[in-house]
Parts: sequence; structure tokens; C-alpha cells
Amino acid sequence: MQKIIILDFGSQTTQLIGRRIRELNTFCEILPYNKFPHDDPSVIGVILSGSPYSVYDPEAFKVDLSGIRGRMPILGICYGAQYMSYTNGGKVEPAGSREYGRANLAWIEQNNPLFRGFAPNSQVWMSHGDTITAIPEGWRAIASTASVKFAAYQADDACSMSNTACAVSPNQCSQGSMFNKVWGVQFHPEVFHSVQGTLLLKNFVVDICGSRQDWSPASFVETTVNEIRQQVGDDRVILGLSGGVDSSVCAVLLNRAIGDRLTCIFVDHGMLRKNEFRDVMHDYECLGLNVIGVDASERFLGDLAGVTDPEQKRKIIGRDFVEVFNAEARKITDARWLAQGTIYPDRIESLNITGKVIKSHHNVGGLPKEMSLGLCEPLKWLFKDEVRRVGRQLGMPEHLITRHPFPGPGLAVRILGDITREKVRILQDADDIFIRALREYVDTDGVTLYNKIWQAGVVLMSAVRSVGVMGDERTYEHPVALRAVTSTDAMTADWVHLPYDLMAKVSNDIINKVKGVNRVCYDISSKPPATIEWE
Ligand code: XMP
Repeated sequence: MQKIIILDFGSQTTQLIGRRIRELNTFCEILPYNKFPHDDPSVIGVILSGSPYSVYDPEAFKVDLSGIRGRMPILGICYGAQYMSYTNGGKVEPAGSREYGRANLAWIEQNNPLFRGFAPNSQVWMSHGDTITAIPEGWRAIASTASVKFAAYQADDACSMSNTACAVSPNQCSQGSMFNKVWGVQFHPEVFHSVQGTLLLKNFVVDICGSRQDWSPASFVETTVNEIRQQVGDDRVILGLSGGVDSSVCAVLLNRAIGDRLTCIFVDHGMLRKNEFRDVMHDYECLGLNVIGVDASERFLGDLAGVTDPEQKRKIIGRDFVEVFNAEARKITDARWLAQGTIYPDRIESLNITGKVIKSHHNVGGLPKEMSLGLCEPLKWLFKDEVRRVGRQLGMPEHLITRHPFPGPGLAVRILGDITREKVRILQDADDIFIRALREYVDTDGVTLYNKIWQAGVVLMSAVRSVGVMGDERTYEHPVALRAVTSTDAMTADWVHLPYDLMAKVSNDIINKVKGVNRVCYDISSKPPATIEWE
């Protein structure tokens, strides 16, 4: 399978480059800047990402590109472009403030394949502290903005491949073949504000690198089903289901590959959404999955009694979860593999080269050693939107595919303070009213609000009570906060401008129908600095 390699120099937008390339139906891998797979013959091109560093920073990431240049096309983005220019004798200097934000390509080289189809003055997004003030000898500028002379450049390399190693026919590989070239752009084609950025990436990936664009959900399902069969042979596989999209798609894919030799375990810790355990079990049974449902709510709620510290609550839930899951898994004595719905962003985050932990991981961990299970992670190359496309390809029901993410510890991280069955009941009822209202609210474009929102839920401020009046009675009950955010990966999020009529209805319904709540607030905090969950 053809692939593009994206070498990650630590930019915030590296994942976005990957998503854009996948949207072009081309497989790509994001690897640390110094981990280029030199012996992989399926690589057809390389992209160097941006970086938080300047090329002059002593700790800046440096890499020897001599094994790559001349063998396949390279595109450097921002730092990637500056790094290649600087290390080949060009000049990079601190930039003026005008190199942040929107800019327009006032000039582009006519007929350059990177800019095929570009409109005059195309808008791009700049974001760099340094700028290239001189490019190496023999390289040339191919685009400029009013203030950035070298907005894009090109260098023609001699082919460095020996005849035997070369995959290109001698006819194609005359001097000047696109395979030998290097491009650099100081703007970010991967971000939304670079209006023709996707076209630039398409020109690079398809026209220059020669992608056949044959990466699709259907081809993924076919290849992956075969790979799973090869990997696990006639063995039995265990999978922990959470009700979420990733583990559900993973289960259906495995079921397609090995049928009944997949055993799924779904643990109810007592802090799922209203009726969720029952409804999701029903969905799984309709999908033909072999699922063991374990109601462990007594144990979890018992262990959580009186605990108020958020980290302590998470630890207890994590520990209990592993123990309950393991006890079930041990009963499946012929299991040889553990399947997990790990997806690509989980793994890229764990490679995060800047060393900052943005989101901790919450997957099932620490299976008993004596089980010595192999790991099967069939979704490990997919982004979230691709997981959903694969789910549709597998014929899964839309309501399972479009489910909002839900935290592993469930409503526990949305009940501030200690947890009791009664508080869980209050929160489940309030949450159910809010989520139903979002599902029922169809926007002017025909899409429900639920489907436009990344994640929504309700938080119970159970440590707070406020005065209200109902009929002739004074009330002294808890407030709840509604939370609804848009996001692409949960690393940043923005609160949703919910319609007032919807908020009014939800507030009324919750206060009238949910005993224990007499006030409804709306959380208007973005992430950062807030997080999506309150605990
Ligand atoms: P935060 O609150 O960190 O949440 O902004 C980001 C995303 O992660 C989810 N989340 C969790 N998921 N186990 C999970 O499986 C957890 O412990 C956990 N904590 C937060 C959260 O719902 C959001 O989608």
C-alpha cells in the first residue's frame, strides 16, 4: 500500500496534516522527525511538519535528510521548509509580526505543479517567528506574499537512487523528474484558513508523489479483516466494550473476521447514562456480537462511598474496572488475544515529542500476567472520523456511530463531591432530558444539534445547594450545569452557542421533572483553560 510519511517536528497541526492526506484517500503515517522508515518501499513522499522551535534553538529537532532527498518528493511546511533551507546554506532570521495570521499569495510561479489550479491572491495562514531571508544557491522562490518573499520555494535534486533500488522507469526518471524535487512552504496548507491548502496537498500527494488514492473505508475493511485472520489464526480474542464508537467498531470488525471466536465484555460500573447498559447490550446483540454483560455497580458504588477527591475517585474506578474485567477475562481460558479499540490519535499523543502530557490514557490496562495475551488493535491507524466511516461501511446503526464520546469513569466525573445512587439517578435523569432535546432539535440545515456537537452532558453540583421556590414551597436543592462543546480531537474545545429556546425548554423540563434540582446553569468555558469534564 502506498503511503506518505509525515515527519513530526512537534507542531500543533501535525495531526491535521495527516487528516488532510487521509481525506485525499491516501494512507499516511505520522512518525517522530528522526524515525523515517528507510527500508519501507511503499513510501511515495515525505512531509516535514512545523515545530515549536526555531532552527537556531539549541534543542531544535535536527535530522539528516540525505537518505531521503533525491529518492522521493519532499514537502517542508513552516519549520520543515526553514530547516531544509537553513541546513543547505540559506538564511533564516526573526520575522516581523506580519507573519502571523492571514496573508495572500501575491505572486506564484506559473505552471508550478504545487500550485496547479490556484486562484490569484489565494489566502494562506502564516504562523512563524522566523522567516527565510535567503534560500540556498540553485533553489528558487515559487510564491511570495506582500511581506514574505520566500512564501514557497523549490529545489531540484539529482536522483540519489542506484538503478537497482529505483522504482521509477528510466523513461520517467529523466533529470527534473518530480521524484527528485524538494518543496518548502512557510505557510500552513493544512489549516482551514489556507483556503486552497487542501488543493496544494492534493497537488503534492497525487500529482507529484503519484498517489492512486485507493485508501477508503471499504479497502480498509477488506485488508484489515484479512490481517486479523492472519494475526489471530484460530485463536479466541477478548475485547472490552465501553459502549463508545471505537470499541464498538473494533468489535464489529473482529466479528466480521473471526465471528464467534470473539468474546466481548461490557462492564456496568453503575455510572453509565440512563438505561445505557440495557440499550447498548441490545444494540450489541442485534449486531450479532458475543457479549458478556457484567453488572458490577454494587461494588463500584460501595468502594466510592464517601470519596470526594476527583483523583481518588478515578483511581478507585480504574482499579475496580481492571479487577472486574480481569475476573471475567480469566474465565475465558482459551483466549490468546486482547483486542482494543485504540485509535491513531491515542498513539500519536503517546509519541508526543514535546513531552507534554495533554490527555492521559484510560484504556483497560494491566491484564493478569499468566494470561499472556497478545494485543490486537485493528483501528490503530484510524482517525476518529475514519472510525465512523468504517462503522458505516460495516453497516452499524447510525445512533451507535454518532454517539458522543463518554468518559470511562462515566457520570462519576460529573458528580462533584461524593457519589451515591440517588445522585447518579438525579444526574441520569437530567442528562437524559438534555441529550434527548439535542437529538430532537433539528437545525435549519436538517442536521440535529446532537450531531453537530462533539460532546454534551450535565454536571451535578452536589456539594452546592441554592434556594428556589416551587408552587408555594421553598426549595433548597442542587444546581446542574449543562455542558456542550465542539471539538475535533478533545484536546481543544469551544462551548456551543445553544439556541435560547432549546435552553429554556431543557431548563424547564429538568427543574419540573428531576426531583433534587432547582437551578440550571450553562457552562460557557472553552478548553483550554477549562477541561471538558469538570473532574
Ligand atoms: P477533558 O476533561 O480532559 O476530556 O477535557 C477530554 C476528553 O476525554 C474524555 N475523558 C475521559 N475518557 N476516561 C475516558 O475514557 C477518562 O478518565 C476520561 N476523562 C476525560 C472526556 O469525556 C473528553 O471527551
